[in-house]
Amino acid sequence: MDKAWLDATRTPAERTELLLAQMTLAEKVGQLHQPANVSAADDAESLRAGRIGTSLSASGATAGNVRDEGVAVRAVNAVQRIAVEESRLGIPLLMARDVIHGHRTVFPIPLGQAATWDAGLVERGARLAAVEASAVGIGWTFTPMMDITGDHRWGRVAESLGEDPVLAGRLAAATVRGLQTDDLSAPDAIAACAKHYVGYGLAEGGRDYNSVTAGENSLRNLQLRPFHECVRAGVATVMSSFNDIDGVPVHANRRYLREILKDEWAFDGAIVSDWDGVGEIVQHRVAADLADAARQGLEAGVDMDMVSGAYLAHLEQLVSDGAVSVDLLDDAVRRVLTLKFRCGIFEHPYTDEDLEAQVSGSDEHRAAARSAAAASLVLLKNDGILPLAAASDERILLTGPLLDATDALFGTWTLDGRADEVVSIADGLTRFTGPGARSVPWTHSDQVLAAAREVSTVVAFVGEHPVRSGEANSITTLDLPVGQLETLQAIKAVGVRLVVVVLGGRALSLPWIAEHADAVLYAWHPGSEGGNAIADVLFGAVGPRGRLPITLPRSAGQQPLVYNHRSTGRPIALARDGQWGRYQDSLSAPLYPFGFGLTYGSVEYSGVMVQGASPVTASVVVTNTGDLACTEVVQVYVRDEVAAVTRPVKELLDWAVVELAAGASQTVRFTIDDERLGYYGPDGRFRVDPGEFALWIAPDSASGEPVSFTRA
Ligand code: BGC
Repeated sequence: MDKAWLDATRTPAERTELLLAQMTLAEKVGQLHQPANVSAADDAESLRAGRIGTSLSASGATAGNVRDEGVAVRAVNAVQRIAVEESRLGIPLLMARDVIHGHRTVFPIPLGQAATWDAGLVERGARLAAVEASAVGIGWTFTPMMDITGDHRWGRVAESLGEDPVLAGRLAAATVRGLQTDDLSAPDAIAACAKHYVGYGLAEGGRDYNSVTAGENSLRNLQLRPFHECVRAGVATVMSSFNDIDGVPVHANRRYLREILKDEWAFDGAIVSDWDGVGEIVQHRVAADLADAARQGLEAGVDMDMVSGAYLAHLEQLVSDGAVSVDLLDDAVRRVLTLKFRCGIFEHPYTDEDLEAQVSGSDEHRAAARSAAAASLVLLKNDGILPLAAASDERILLTGPLLDATDALFGTWTLDGRADEVVSIADGLTRFTGPGARSVPWTHSDQVLAAAREVSTVVAFVGEHPVRSGEANSITTLDLPVGQLETLQAIKAVGVRLVVVVLGGRALSLPWIAEHADAVLYAWHPGSEGGNAIADVLFGAVGPRGRLPITLPRSAGQQPLVYNHRSTGRPIALARDGQWGRYQDSLSAPLYPFGFGLTYGSVEYSGVMVQGASPVTASVVVTNTGDLACTEVVQVYVRDEVAAVTRPVKELLDWAVVELAAGASQTVRFTIDDERLGYYGPDGRFRVDPGEFALWIAPDSASGEPVSFTRA
């Protein structure tokens, strides 16, 4: 056989056609089948027959909750050798794994990375993750995740990039660039996957996998936006989500998969189902059996069937019977083959077995993880106690359930991090603490209190262990884990100054801490270098600069709570009624607004100006009147005063990360092109309205005075 598709001077599209023309029906279907954990020992026959297209390495259905034994590059090469050298057409497999926030070097959870508001840092983290993952033969990963939600009962919010579509979209696109680079065929570039498309974060009651009732207009203006941004950034694949939307399971949802994603947005990559997502159309009771599910999945636009086996078992027959058109099948196969050609795996199917030892967990990677973790920390309150003085004689007590944590600093979806390579918080702090410092384990509160009586300052590291966060881990209150608040209250009652560092994979409700602690630092799950990063910031070696990528509610009962909710006919006048709003038993305002975060500087905003018509330019003068340098995240919000559908009371338009020395002043300018002011109207079309807009340039979503401007 003339294997003309191996000619790398041809385009991926040309090579795909040459290969497709040679394939049998069974081989075509094989390319769409994605079993988990394929091995040379167990799957040789299927590999030789061309019955496996791709594989993922995962411990099971909720792999994000388990750290497994990892991927052995030799085993990957052995599988690849059978596919390439012993099958009729020699098509290599694309090997996937969830490399969600770092591989062996673990970066902060995505929600923490979103708190950096720094696309450059996020891109770099993704780049290094791709370098480490590709060194063990992984060519594809299932990230970025950009589900938008305002409900932190849902454990998977940890994997998200926050509640705002512009922030999430920009950071997701940065992740795509970091993973894929501008040359996906390079051996250390890996294919990205935008997930979970779409609406998954709207699960009723925050219960994972639950039903979603949402209209197309609200999805277009919110949940779909970051996906569109990723498609524009060239994301190679998209994963469909487990939920239904208004009665139609996404895996069978032609409207969202085929009509919007593939046709309207011209997405030319491949759609992969989520784990057993095609099979679960049966569980949704929308398909009678697996054959029916296979037909519905393919027709809707799912190209690759992750683990359900429905395509492998039934597509051949369905096509032979005429129940599914061969054109639809070919379209899916084309997408998978083109993906493989784009990834360059026909040119480099094997991975150098010595590479991992050379690149993985290097000092350079760890330094990047440390910077990212430090930038992710959000200082919520500081009554002047931070930064702590290094090497001081002051009597200070370090305690808390997470003080000595190692792998608990990883957070959810860490499959390849190593516990013995984590810098614990206790270890990180020893670089700064002086003779007056001591630490006491949290195991018995009486011991903690006895020690607290002997000191002037207590620094407590509390919050969630990752077992409470991530997939299938929903909760009903956002309170700290059992007993932690009581111990903090007892500590404060002995009359010490109290610094609370909160770790978690979601927004936790902290009203008592916000009121009574002297300083509060929100630290997410910060990764391998978390201990160093937290110590750097507490002692001022690095200034805090993170900003909340979410709204921090007072209680779970306020949820879903987001800053960019739509205008209602009866707005809650937060300022006028003392913020009691609509609840009998709670304020309506959040505890801390989206975008909020303090620094060790003190930045004043002045002279907000808007000029020009199309594009509009807006500017502000920011001045650091404090004694310490800081990194300020200058945020621009906008509101369309009259639109064709109800629009957000305020939405993020742009932001800038600005370094300000003590006493320094800088003018920050933003260009607001038309597209940023637009939205989808009731007819499903994108539009930009003429007329009045309000604009804020401020340090967070709840500050600043609006300036109005008119778009002609
Ligand atoms: C998750 C996905 C993940 C996939 C593969 C599913 O359970 O929803 O996010 O990529 O498993 O591990």
